[in-house]
Amino acid sequence: MNIKHIAIIMDGNGRWAKKKRLKRVAGHKRGAEVVREITTHLAKKGLKYLTLYAFSTENWKRPKLEVEFLMNLLDKYLKNELQTYIDNKIKFDTIGDITKLPKRVQNRIQKTKDITKNFNGLTQVLALNYGSQDEIIRVSKKMCENKIEFTKENFEKNLDTANFEPIDLMIRTSGEKRVSNFLLWQLAYAELYFSPTLFPDLTTNELDEILNNFNTRERRFGGV
Ligand code: IPE
Ligand code: IPE
Ligand code: MG
Repeated sequence: MNIKHIAIIMDGNGRWAKKKRLKRVAGHKRGAEVVREITTHLAKKGLKYLTLYAFSTENWKRPKLEVEFLMNLLDKYLKNELQTYIDNKIKFDTIGDITKLPKRVQNRIQKTKDITKNFNGLTQVLALNYGSQDEIIRVSKKMCENKIEFTKENFEKNLDTANFEPIDLMIRTSGEKRVSNFLLWQLAYAELYFSPTLFPDLTTNELDEILNNFNTRERRFGGV
């Protein structure tokens, strides 16, 4: 595969549910199934990194019940999908400040990371309590405290994404054309793709079409 790292803003779960006259959380539930489908699909195709925006630093503003549902869904997802990680040699990782998540979810995250840490297939990275502005402030504070010189290389080494390859392609579903505090530094030279599809309706076929579209693009990185 000529592409190493895809990042996705998984948006539109609430609107999907509304269209079907269901509660918003039904959209999140279907969204979690799509996460499994696209993760295994891309793992089989040989992608190295898939970063998924699952919960932003701003999503705490949502109704308490929705936030609770999302935390429980995450816990259940990691528990139920453990076998999927094992079967497909998928390594699990996170970005974002997970110390603010419920303790039981933090434990589940740690356990999943420990079990999958030596797998060398796809690395699935969930962005949890992730906000790019928060990340940049955390990195800057750490570098000041440790008296690390502010260079591009040092900054990147301290970002949550330090261990991953640069992002080649960022996809946002649901038709919104904004980045909503996702990977502001890391998207510097990523290709962007905005799909009108609501995330719960995203299929592996559409994903393959998006990859074909990516292949037609000429990346210049400021050169000629
Ligand atoms: C994205 O779907 C999932 C999360 C932010 C957790 P939304 O919940 O934002 O769905 P819409 O945008 O309201 O349709
Ligand atoms: C971005 O979606 C966050 C995630 C997908 C987790 P939002 O639905 O929170 O973003 P806005 O509010 O439309 O910008
Ligand atoms: Mg949304």
